[in-house]
Amino acid sequence: MRNIMLAPSMMCVSPWEDPAGAIRQLTDAGVELMHMDVMDGSFVPNLMLGTEAIKQLRRVCDIPLDIHLMIDRPEDKLAWFDIQPGEYVSVHAESTHHLQRTLARIRDYGAHPMAALNPATPLCMLEDVLPDVDAVLLMTVNPGYAGQTLIPQTLNKIARLRRMLDDAGREDVDIEVDGNVSFAHCRRMYDAGANMFVCGSSSIFAKGHTIAENVAAFRRILAE
Ligand code: DX5
Ligand code: ZN
Repeated sequence: MRNIMLAPSMMCVSPWEDPAGAIRQLTDAGVELMHMDVMDGSFVPNLMLGTEAIKQLRRVCDIPLDIHLMIDRPEDKLAWFDIQPGEYVSVHAESTHHLQRTLARIRDYGAHPMAALNPATPLCMLEDVLPDVDAVLLMTVNPGYAGQTLIPQTLNKIARLRRMLDDAGREDVDIEVDGNVSFAHCRRMYDAGANMFVCGSSSIFAKGHTIAENVAAFRRILAE
């Protein structure tokens, strides 16, 4: 049994409403990670969470960050993020000419290196970096926005990735899913082999219930 990690997508928290309250509720609910989506308007068609947001979140919360870099040429920009030991940092295989080098640098910070793949990117892109990753992030929607619909073939991709990792002797590598990780989908994602869940508008931040209620409901579905 792999450790289940819930990683609330902090881009779903409005900086104009009550972010401190949301962070407090997430902390009380015992979420394992804080997922920070960094978008540069080039690799993805949106701008989101920059270096300052990351720095400030570290200041007000003790939960390790899970930094998802959706930026072109992350290898040139890693130093901007002041990466801390124990954090998770993912870089997209599509965004860099030097995936192995970038993952190795993340390891040098004492952080957990993760390779990320868009829905259309085949798993074979990972074959030669398996020794360099602690986890793999599979996008289950095209990155850029919250509130999208799951791309159905990504469910089978999770299972294929789990087999690929296990066959390579990397049963220890975690699989994170990101995009419409809803109450309706999370069980199938877990059964396929995912154990890190980016929880956004379709689960932890779903309207009509508190964060505590949504976290409890999500964990209950996985425990059934
Ligand atoms: C982008 C984000 C989103 C999103 C997830 O990488 O991490 O995928 O906020 O939440 P949903 O899809 O549930 O709104
Ligand atoms: Zn993300």
